[in-house]
Amino acid sequence: MEVDEKLIKLMKTYYGKIDHSIGYPVCQYPNLSGFGEWYAKSGMCDMVTDNVGNPYDGEQLLLNTTVIEREVIQTMASLYDIPEGQEWGFVNSSGTDGNMHGIYFGAKKLQKETGMLPIVYISKEAHYSAARICDVQNLEVRLVDHDRQGRMDPDCFRKAVDPSRPVLIVFAMGSTFMGAIDDQDAIQKVLEEVKPVGVYKHVDAALFGGYFPFTEYRDMVSMKKHGYDSIAVSGHKFFDIDEPCGLFISRKEILESQRAYKVDYLKNDMPLITCSRSALAPLKFYWIINHVGFDKLAEEASWMLENTEYLQHRFDEINYPAWHMPCSNTVFFKRPSEWMRMKYSLANGYLPEYGGDLSHIVVMQHVTKDIIDEFIGDLKEH
Ligand SMILES: Cc1ncc(COP(=O)(O)O)c(C=O)c1O
Repeated sequence: MEVDEKLIKLMKTYYGKIDHSIGYPVCQYPNLSGFGEWYAKSGMCDMVTDNVGNPYDGEQLLLNTTVIEREVIQTMASLYDIPEGQEWGFVNSSGTDGNMHGIYFGAKKLQKETGMLPIVYISKEAHYSAARICDVQNLEVRLVDHDRQGRMDPDCFRKAVDPSRPVLIVFAMGSTFMGAIDDQDAIQKVLEEVKPVGVYKHVDAALFGGYFPFTEYRDMVSMKKHGYDSIAVSGHKFFDIDEPCGLFISRKEILESQRAYKVDYLKNDMPLITCSRSALAPLKFYWIINHVGFDKLAEEASWMLENTEYLQHRFDEINYPAWHMPCSNTVFFKRPSEWMRMKYSLANGYLPEYGGDLSHIVVMQHVTKDIIDEFIGDLKEH
């Protein structure tokens, strides 16, 4: 059949490229072949399932997987130290979707409490989605300068902050290019000094929120320690899932602070921006939790960080300008040739303080020492 041939041909174009896709933060070792077999055999692929609405608020459509989704949220919430019984959240379509909801819920909560919409503070090094979402939601944004390590500069934040308006802050927990981590404690200190009329803290932990819980850096994404209000994490980055999806995790108290949005045909109040949501993504998270397991994820996190040090070491050996931030698996370096960018699917960036034109490698699970050696060998020649 013509269509099958086309798909086979498409698949063949990927061969030889998978291991060399090292410039973007996706795990090219998804652990879902067992799930794929179950999906085909169980008949799940011959029906439409949909987790419309709040997974904690009754079942909207007959065919849904919210019972599994709630279990996934409860298990994942424990990774972020969210007090048991207080967790609330949902499985969504991406890190961006998680930021969209964090900013929306934060703005609505603060507006309800203070009668004013917040000003949103974001580091200039943060992912573009945060500022873009404020544009979509018509929220005022202040982009705050960062230090040499890419962290939101607390002094610049102090100068930028308007305490007469509520503060909605988006922390970058692993910025896209530099792998920078905003210092939540330093920013909290400023907030305690300036005492704004209201505060909501959202953490954009698209990539680092995946592996931190399995490392000595676990505290950095602990809600108990940092008192943030919501966190967004991508599923297709560290969590070995084969397509874009994500987690939005918050507390019941945040849900309760939202304005009721009654939708008759959905039987209940509708707190989410999105209507239909994938019922398969929660099953994929469930599969990773139960069939791959946290011990294996911890192993993966450990070898990723070890290989990050190895990559840095190989750059240093040949005196090639390269850097990575503490706790980060993202190494950025002087931009090599276009040939190198194409072969390794490198992502480019520009930072004047590091010499201008740069590229980066995100050392995910599939970036082995062999691939790193091949990369360095090529770098010497191209
Ligand atoms: C720090 C950060 N936040 C958010 C995102 C967006 O996540 P997603 O691609 O899952 O929408 C990215 C993507 O790379 C990111 O690096």
